[in-house]
Amino acid sequence: MTSAPVFTPQIPDTAARKVEFISLSHLNPSTELDPVPTRGIDLDYFRKYVRALEDGGYDYTLLPYGSNSADSFVVASAVGQLTERIRPIVALRPNTTFPLVAAQKLATLDQLTEGRAVVHLISGGSDAEQARQGDYLPKDRRYARTAEYVDLLRRAWSERAPFSHEGEFYRFDDFGPGFAPHGETIPISIGGQSDQAFQVGGEQADVFSFWGEPLDDLRGEIERVHAIARAAGRTTLPRIWVTFRPIVAETDELAWRKAHEYVARIGETFAKSAYGKQKHHQHAPQNVGSQRALSFAERSELYDRALWTRTAAVTNAAGASTALVGSPETVAAAILDYVDRGADLVSIRGYDTLADAVDYGKHVLPLVRQELAHREATGTRGTLQSEHLGNYGEDYRRFAAAGQ
Ligand SMILES: Cc1cc2nc3c(=O)[nH]c(=O)nc-3n(C[C@H](O)[C@H](O)[C@H](O)COP(=O)(O)O)c2cc1C
Repeated sequence: MTSAPVFTPQIPDTAARKVEFISLSHLNPSTELDPVPTRGIDLDYFRKYVRALEDGGYDYTLLPYGSNSADSFVVASAVGQLTERIRPIVALRPNTTFPLVAAQKLATLDQLTEGRAVVHLISGGSDAEQARQGDYLPKDRRYARTAEYVDLLRRAWSERAPFSHEGEFYRFDDFGPGFAPHGETIPISIGGQSDQAFQVGGEQADVFSFWGEPLDDLRGEIERVHAIARAAGRTTLPRIWVTFRPIVAETDELAWRKAHEYVARIGETFAKSAYGKQKHHQHAPQNVGSQRALSFAERSELYDRALWTRTAAVTNAAGASTALVGSPETVAAAILDYVDRGADLVSIRGYDTLADAVDYGKHVLPLVRQELAHREATGTRGTLQSEHLGNYGEDYRRFAAAGQ
């Protein structure tokens, strides 16, 4: 049992006052639990999926990018037309699109969705994956290119007169004024965990994103990116996005049974390289985000109230892989622990992708929002975190161990 913190009614100084929810959109029913051989989009399923996110009260959906995935811009545009409210986040690797063209595409998406576009810049975590699309820069140069890219996106959206540019990575003459977004600008998020990611994110990003880490480690990382932002003279600090793969059932005990059943199936899928189209590599990942997830998994399986790392261990931490396990109340309380540390964008996506998106919308999001509404109305914390202790309580560890 992890020693239980005392949950006083006082709201911590580091707490975010508001939280918004993100979930990645899936294009077909293939999952890590039940891989279905497919290369394609199941349109009916995809429509259902984005409607479920919209109806479930999510605020954003991430459209991921890989050299073998569907194109995230085209999918984002479809999300815009299939929904009214949810904001599409386009994952974009700078090597794939000249910055002024990306600015134009994003501004078009923003107008087509009346101000809902967001972009998530990925500098690339694997040299081999970057080379598949002709990008041979080493990672530190890729981040330097991202820094120049961010400046050019913002200038393309805001300059009212033509401008020329001669930088380290890009050169052009007499561009502009470009096609403008619906609103003033479009939020730019940075993904990555290396020192260079922190530098670019702290200096330039509207949002900086993480995969789920133990609470104290995440708080340290938030302070690090905010310190870089302050040193750069910023008065508006980057918002903090944190991602989890919750495993939820009616009670903590049932959630643990499910978690152990799931991890066996997920492990099998990855051992057979049956999910996704590229072979899953078993060697050490090059991206620091995955390296961190694996080192947390090595140190311990369970952290804090409900963070479980075995899902990271069996998948070589490819993509977001750390779980929160428990009843809706325990998982909502665990999310609030992160909100208390300063996370204000929470991304959740389950392993049973569509069913979980619906379940979280019904059972988890409302609990987090109720607590935040309570805090706003009363100026004090409610009781969810002190009543649903998960790993801070007595039974949880027994449930966690029983399924092994
Ligand atoms: C929330 C989040 C979403 C991400 N989405 C993608 C994605 O769609 N495609 C991709 O190749 N990498 C994605 N990444 C991975 C990293 O951005 C990438 O590996 C990074 O550019 C380099 O890693 P490093 O700085 O951690 O070493 C994502 C990362 C985070 C935190």
